[in-house]
Amino acid sequence: MMERKLVFGVAVGVAVGACVVAAVVVGRRVKSRSKWKRVVRVLEEFEVAGDTPVRRLRQVVDAMAVEMHAGLASEGGSKLKMLLTYVDNLPNGSEKGTFYALDLGGTNFRVLRVHLGGQRSLSLEHDVERQPIPEHLMTGTSEDLFDFIASSLKDFVEKADDPDQLVARRKELGFTFSFPVKHASASSGVLIKWTKGFSIEDMVGQDAAESLQQAIDRIGLDMRVSVLINDTLGTLAVGHYQDPDTVAAVIIGTGTNACYLERTDAIIKCQGLLTTSGSMVINMEWGNFWTSHLPRTTYDIDLDVDSPNPNEQGFEKMISGMYLGDIVRRVILRISQESDVLGPASTRLLMPFILRTPSMAAMHEDSSPDLTEVARTLEDILEITDTPLKVRKLVVKICDIVTRRAARLAAAGIVGILKKIGRDGSNGIAGGRSRTDIKLRRTVAIEGSLYTSYTMFREYLHEALVEILGEETAPHVILKATEDGSGIGAALLAASYSS
Ligand code: BGC
Repeated sequence: MMERKLVFGVAVGVAVGACVVAAVVVGRRVKSRSKWKRVVRVLEEFEVAGDTPVRRLRQVVDAMAVEMHAGLASEGGSKLKMLLTYVDNLPNGSEKGTFYALDLGGTNFRVLRVHLGGQRSLSLEHDVERQPIPEHLMTGTSEDLFDFIASSLKDFVEKADDPDQLVARRKELGFTFSFPVKHASASSGVLIKWTKGFSIEDMVGQDAAESLQQAIDRIGLDMRVSVLINDTLGTLAVGHYQDPDTVAAVIIGTGTNACYLERTDAIIKCQGLLTTSGSMVINMEWGNFWTSHLPRTTYDIDLDVDSPNPNEQGFEKMISGMYLGDIVRRVILRISQESDVLGPASTRLLMPFILRTPSMAAMHEDSSPDLTEVARTLEDILEITDTPLKVRKLVVKICDIVTRRAARLAAAGIVGILKKIGRDGSNGIAGGRSRTDIKLRRTVAIEGSLYTSYTMFREYLHEALVEILGEETAPHVILKATEDGSGIGAALLAASYSS
């Protein structure tokens, strides 16, 4: 009897124990399910806020065209500065000789030498050297920065086996300075403001060509800065040299911007402007474009507030390489604050710009079944270890949302330009175009690592172009990637504007 009671008691005990264990397990599951639900909600909210259906993209297209008009109508008439470049003729192929270029504006700077044979050629013979800009020089003094680049230029020139050296002709240089500049001529202009993490206070308001020329003189190099251009203009010059149907150029790299050829009579803010060609290249500075139609999320707002230039470069902050990785970091941070699916809190996640866009692109394009690249990046850069596969998939999804939105907005910007100049296949805001123009091919030269090295970005951009323009018009818009165009174009322009 006693024994039976004991067995019964043990059995009850085991059953109760099992129930407790089961309850704990179920409880945990319920908890982790609700945690996961919270994570999914963060992601869904982000996706909805950043959504870019074609209807919204068309609103962005229209706003871009309208703002272009406003920026051309009066100084300060729009956030789009629509800066005059004083370049009214693009190189036509007759340029001859050896010309130099210096390309400053992204994470790297480049020095180039271009040999021109006097005949249009699809491949331009050139030598190039790239160098990263030491970070301390991006926020130091202008003299330090220009002395550094002038000395790199001197080394480059001296290493060369340059036939022109024998002739002892003064060398000519095209300077690509990829920041907003207010020009007084094609060879001079003052810096309006810095972008892309540069911040050298004493340079704002100074003539960039003059500062470089002084540094070149200080170092004893016999070279003249003959043109001062934006990287978009260099890209347009090369694009146009290789294909005269090229009407605009776009850069999507560390920063983003576009330029295009505008009729002088449409540049109302500069009445009486006379050029031999009847047109002039306008540097739009589209990075600063803004419209309420842009799908802005709380992460964009926070990024802007924490940035060195709040309320500026709003379009750029949604599109370019300097910022995309940081938007992803901010979403991951939010998830780690909402739940512990990413493991213990990582202090790395709090560091602005620690996740750079190339690493983000590598995660996005990770095609391994276990997403090993994602795991490695999370571990190496953000110190988030042992992530389960579903968390890695979540990170890929975040990268996808950020990149897709960026690429689609860039596509809308491009169509905005085509619309302004009446080449988008519709009647265009400028009107007056005939149906036959729909058949006209139009080429847009494009450069920058997001477009050239990030396949998913490029595919999303193309896809959006087709959605916005429609199957009939889209094939007539050719995006032509150029390499080193921003620098080579400066040498080409130095040639056509040479003394
Ligand atoms: C600058 C532009 C430049 C673009 C691409 C932007 O931040 O303001 O002048 O063309 O970056 O480099």
